[in-house]
Amino acid sequence: MTTVIKNGTIVTADLTYKADVLIEGGQIIEIGQGLKGDEVLDATGCYVMPGGIDPHTHLEMPFMGTYSSDDFDSGTRAALSGGTTMVVDFALPSPGQGLLDALQMWDNKSTRAHCDYSFHMAVTWWGEQVFNEMETVVKERGINTFKHFMAYKGALMVNDDEMYASFNRLAELGGIAMVHAENGDVVAELTAKLLAAGNNGPEAHAYSRPPQVEGEATNRAIMIADMAGVPLYVVHTSCEESHEAIRRAKQAGKRVWGEPLIQHLTLDDSEYSHPDWDHAARRVMSPPFRNKQHQDSLWAGLQSGSLSVVATDHCAFTTDQKRYGVGDFSKIPNGTGGLEDRMPMLWTYGVNTGRLTPNEFVAVTSTNIAKIMNMYPKKGAVLVGADADLVVWDPEKSKTITAGNQVSAIDYNVFEGKEVKGLPRFTLTRGHVAVHDGELRSQEGHGKFVAREPNSSVSRALSTWKELTSPRPVQRTGIPATGV
Ligand code: URP
Ligand code: ZN
Ligand code: ZN
Ligand code: ZN
Repeated sequence: MTTVIKNGTIVTADLTYKADVLIEGGQIIEIGQGLKGDEVLDATGCYVMPGGIDPHTHLEMPFMGTYSSDDFDSGTRAALSGGTTMVVDFALPSPGQGLLDALQMWDNKSTRAHCDYSFHMAVTWWGEQVFNEMETVVKERGINTFKHFMAYKGALMVNDDEMYASFNRLAELGGIAMVHAENGDVVAELTAKLLAAGNNGPEAHAYSRPPQVEGEATNRAIMIADMAGVPLYVVHTSCEESHEAIRRAKQAGKRVWGEPLIQHLTLDDSEYSHPDWDHAARRVMSPPFRNKQHQDSLWAGLQSGSLSVVATDHCAFTTDQKRYGVGDFSKIPNGTGGLEDRMPMLWTYGVNTGRLTPNEFVAVTSTNIAKIMNMYPKKGAVLVGADADLVVWDPEKSKTITAGNQVSAIDYNVFEGKEVKGLPRFTLTRGHVAVHDGELRSQEGHGKFVAREPNSSVSRALSTWKELTSPRPVQRTGIPATGV
């Protein structure tokens, strides 16, 4: 059984051209003119692009006394309906829990996935067990990216010495360090001060995490990664202070990437002034939404290449869950959704406004992610031999985003009422047509784990450079006798 996508324009990170795509056994087997297949998908007027990869999701994650409400079933269905064909979720050990133990939990949950997925590992505490298991996770479990929380003091946060030890271990193993960059000590102090002053509404969540705390932590993480000689990926980069640190590091030749979220690019901090408590609380996430100047900085970063990818940090909580924090903003579960909306929102606010070219759109939603995470060109490519994770994108198709029609399991949408133009006509996951003209035909359990090897070309280049420039003793002749 073969499938052919006919009459479309292929858009990759670096090329735009007219050709048909032939698929068999879940992979692209031919790209060319006048191809024939058993099943024909008409892409007239459409772009044929690599399916989106969301590098940052939290599906059914235990967090702040509850579980995020989209699981690998609803979450990956939501992804596919918006043109995303792969998610990378975080396996999150609770403090004291082993990495392999946590991975077993994520293996169990992910059997329901409708699209392919991979995992990052989180380092939420430090000890010999974590040090030892990191090797197994990298070498036997196909995970090369490890996240460190510099915030969530008393829960997930790790200190500088722990981060330095973990980064060193990753450098040895050929992995990549990731950070949630906010100064957790200062956030904890500001939170206590705000609450003591009676500032307990959702807006105070944003007051407790100003851009400076993110900028400081980003600079600190970059320095520690540089000392350890490991590439660094900064998740949910939300502000100029953090972007500036990343931009400066890149210009200095450091291997650092920044990941803005579609929420931070398109929603601002005025959401927290909304008179409705639920409206504001539903938008509580860390880092919080920022003002328009920060948004402009993030867009400029994507345009110039100082920021590399666009994610969602999809971590969806229902209104009832958000209400755990009535009377105390620090108990509002942190997180927002976006899996279903990332691609249409970025196309609408990026490509349709002229901020991004279609090729840049593909780069930041798919190809750059696959390259950084070392799964290119299996993922993120329209090439013979690549997985047929594809989206046939109709630039004329439009809709109004509303929770009433969404796939995500929660009862609201932070993008409610936004008009988007640019939506999938077809979404294919390893050749299976999961979205067919607006109809979801995905299959539970179709998704497979994607193993990612360590020692990507960037890791190898960095370790070569660090070895070449490492401190060496000066060879001297005639060393004087000791003075005693
Ligand atoms: O508020 C957020 N971002 N929730 C998800 C967990 C995290 O920090 O990434
Ligand atoms: Zn985070
Ligand atoms: Zn996250
Ligand atoms: Zn299938």
